[in-house]
Amino acid sequence: MSRTVYVNGEFVAEEQAKISIFDRGFLFADGVYEVTSVLNGKLIDNDAHLVRLHRSLDELDMPAPLSDQEITQVQQKLLELNQIDEGMVYLQITRGAADRDFGFPENPQPSLVLFTQKKTLRESPKAETGLKVILTPDLRWARRDIKTVGLLAPCMAKSQAVRQGADDAWFVEDGYITEGSSNNAFIVKKEGDETVIVTRQLGCEILHGITRRSVMGFAKSAGFKVEERPFSAEEAKQADEAFLTSATTFVLPVVQIDDTPVGDGKPGPVARQLREFYIKEAMALTG
Ligand code: PDD
Repeated sequence: MSRTVYVNGEFVAEEQAKISIFDRGFLFADGVYEVTSVLNGKLIDNDAHLVRLHRSLDELDMPAPLSDQEITQVQQKLLELNQIDEGMVYLQITRGAADRDFGFPENPQPSLVLFTQKKTLRESPKAETGLKVILTPDLRWARRDIKTVGLLAPCMAKSQAVRQGADDAWFVEDGYITEGSSNNAFIVKKEGDETVIVTRQLGCEILHGITRRSVMGFAKSAGFKVEERPFSAEEAKQADEAFLTSATTFVLPVVQIDDTPVGDGKPGPVARQLREFYIKEAMALTG
């Protein structure tokens, strides 16, 4: 059955949806996006996603076509029309159609597109088996804190991982892991009695993950020490555990980095605890 999607003010069947071939999102990747997960038919952490959306828009001097309240109404209507209980809603704003010219047009007419996708989030088999990641050079541009639709380097990295029999790729720059192709990267180290969770500090080098922030909060409340700093590929391979976070994976354990098993090569207790905590809190929010 075809989905109903939203394009510039209209709810239409996906086959009827149209965007100009002159849209700057299509020609220049001149657009930003957000992915919000859905559990029990409710949006998870959507306010934080909208705050980040505005940050991305501001950094690119791009206007928002609708208010946050209107965007949320569209998101909720799409969930209803498509009967989404679990999955995600995707939102994209581009600078719209204009004559092809590198300079930003003076009076842009931004395009807004939203669609839903069903996905099993809670019962992920990968939560039980863990993920294998490969390490690959970070070929992305220098403003990864802006969530743009220019995603070719992550697509190349993920495809390379799959070709090599792995699940995903983590990017390495100057010997240090930045983040995953579409997730934030974490390692766990036992230091005496302490459990230390390490993740790259915020900056232009990584996306400021919404799930990352929530999970760091849970980690602190569970008594773990959280360090935001660069960590090397070598440090990651020698860690006791590793895991990744994103809106569509929540928390998933990483059990192998290139050919090296992480810890005992099985999903570890810290990743498991944080995943359970995240899902419990998210479910509580859905009422
Ligand atoms: N990706 N880093 C990158 C490069 C990402 O693309 C994402 C999310 C994250 C995690 O951010 P958050 O926790 O806010 O989802 C980190 C989304 C899910 C995607 O592109 O589908």
